[in-house]
Amino acid sequence: MNIKMGVNVGIVWVCVVLFMAIQAMGVSIAAAPMDQFSENKSIFGKKSIFGKKRSPSRSRPIDYTFKLPIAPTSWPEGNGFAGGILDLGGLQVSQASTFNKVWGVYNGGPDNQGASVYEPTGIPQGFSMLGSYSQPNNKPLFGYVLVAKDVSSSTTNRTLKPPVDYTLVSNTATQDSTLYIWLPIAPNGYKALGHVVTTTQDKPSLNKIMCVRSDLTDQCESSSWIWGSNNLNFYNVRPINRGTQAPGVHVGTFVAQNGGNTNPPSISCLKNLNSISKIMPNKNQIEAILQSYSPFLYLNSAEEYLPSSVNWFFSNGALLYKKGQESNPIPIAQNGTNLPQDPNTDGAYWLDLPTDIANKERVKKGNLQSAESYVHVKPMFGGTFTDIAMWIFYPFNGPGRAKVEFITVKLGRIGEHVGDWEHVTLRVSNLDGKLWQVYFSQHGNGQWIDSSQLEFQNDKRPVVYASLHGHAAYPHAGLVLIGKNGVGAIDDTNKGNNVMDMGKFVLVSADYLGSQIKEPAWLNFFRGWGPHVDYNLDDELKNAEKVLIGKLKDGFEKIIRGLPKEVFGEEGPTGPKAKINWNGDEI
Ligand SMILES: *[C@@H]1O[C@H](CO)[C@@H](O)[C@H](O)[C@H]1NC(C)=O
Ligand SMILES: *[C@@H]1O[C@H](CO)[C@@H](O)[C@H](O)[C@H]1NC(C)=O
Ligand SMILES: *[C@@H]1O[C@H](CO)[C@@H](O)[C@H](O)[C@H]1NC(C)=O
Repeated sequence: MNIKMGVNVGIVWVCVVLFMAIQAMGVSIAAAPMDQFSENKSIFGKKSIFGKKRSPSRSRPIDYTFKLPIAPTSWPEGNGFAGGILDLGGLQVSQASTFNKVWGVYNGGPDNQGASVYEPTGIPQGFSMLGSYSQPNNKPLFGYVLVAKDVSSSTTNRTLKPPVDYTLVSNTATQDSTLYIWLPIAPNGYKALGHVVTTTQDKPSLNKIMCVRSDLTDQCESSSWIWGSNNLNFYNVRPINRGTQAPGVHVGTFVAQNGGNTNPPSISCLKNLNSISKIMPNKNQIEAILQSYSPFLYLNSAEEYLPSSVNWFFSNGALLYKKGQESNPIPIAQNGTNLPQDPNTDGAYWLDLPTDIANKERVKKGNLQSAESYVHVKPMFGGTFTDIAMWIFYPFNGPGRAKVEFITVKLGRIGEHVGDWEHVTLRVSNLDGKLWQVYFSQHGNGQWIDSSQLEFQNDKRPVVYASLHGHAAYPHAGLVLIGKNGVGAIDDTNKGNNVMDMGKFVLVSADYLGSQIKEPAWLNFFRGWGPHVDYNLDDELKNAEKVLIGKLKDGFEKIIRGLPKEVFGEEGPTGPKAKINWNGDEI
């Protein structure tokens, strides 16, 4: 086919010609509706409770205070989980999550919706403020700042001291009022953990806020951007070192900085000097948490490759291969008790589907009825939070699809692999027992979503969407492009009829519970849950490209080859324990 186009052909005409050319080649394509589509960014549901036709001046999501649809008021007996207070070592902390708004701005920041700045209110008797709170206006008010009380036995070496003075970081004005941001100047041996904010230029009183003795502080980094411009920016901060053993505590305060993002920020985080597992939930409490917050997982309506339990996979013909003895694979015992248990990730062993075609095709498709989530519970932020990683096993990860402008391209076998482990992580506060965030794993990467941005089924438990074939997890249905300039791989999620209740779970690991938890043998199989891919990327790409012409073809190949390997799962799928987030933070 020979297509000649004049220089001045309009874009619409180009599209039509292209479309016809592709159809003439008899290749299956689908045009995705552009209005559901944006680059590597989740598409939020059409029904926004905040209304699409927002008045340009005032009504913002921030005008609502978010309340979790389910927030249990009583928990099974335990050692302090959800008891409201944690002693970090001579310093008690508690969460303040009601606020008094000090200042707001109606533009700038994420989605150009501005940001608001708050002072905590309802601080319990004897506790002091450590800093102020700020968040963007594009989501409902939902946050906390820690407040603290000195409970050290020493009267000469207090854990809290008032600042000796303040410096004015900046002032910034809207037509309504001016915000003055003050950084406490800490006494020697103490550190500031946040700002005082006022709307007058008078220095705040020195007993407004407390600084914390240095040994109880940890280094922070700025994380997400709240608001600002070249001159002044607000950021959230979090401990630099995060993980199951890291003592750094997330305080919830914000930092204001002149200029851009400079690390380390001018304020510190807290550090837990006591045992990190002090107020972690016990087994009964974990069960109660999961009853309240376990998501419903919606598979795409076109999904052929469903999840299954690992035991279903094992007992339906999955095989263990040993390098050098490929012709003699062996069946896998219940719970994987005959899988190698050494922590090596060499290619000495791997799992694969049954060899006979009929069984292979059957096992590939999984078995939703048997599917269960495998739960790993771990302390986070110095034991002030519990991260509950919920792992899901799919026997097979289907091939990917790509998008070139308005054309969906099937990627042949690219992305296919046996054995696909995906997860979502619930982040629950050990102080108030609330679900604060959920992590959605997406191709070896992912995103934390505030509870206020989740969908809840029947106003109860959260909803998670698994993308077609790749099973990446998303908080909302829609199409997501991983790439740039309108070209890349796509993740397609929708509310199909196949739903997995992730509340059907097995607790497989929680180090802090010691011998109370017996890890299944399969968890300590560190090698591939599938063989290395056996297709040829070049061939598959050439095939996929046949539907494209000219410039589109060049851009397509470059971008698809440039995507991280994880997008197509080429690395060979390892089990949960072989992933770095097993002991670390998610991102
Ligand atoms: C106060 O206590 C901290 C932590 O134990 C210690 O590092 C510091 O030297 C003490 N300061 C004084 C003045 O005793
Ligand atoms: C498999 O593990 C479960 C608990 O996870 C246990 O109840 C069951 O007895 C185990 N089965 C075998 C055959 O080891
Ligand atoms: C989207 O992709 C671009 C590059 O392709 C990257 O720079 C950016 O950080 C991504 N954004 C998100 C939200 O993942």
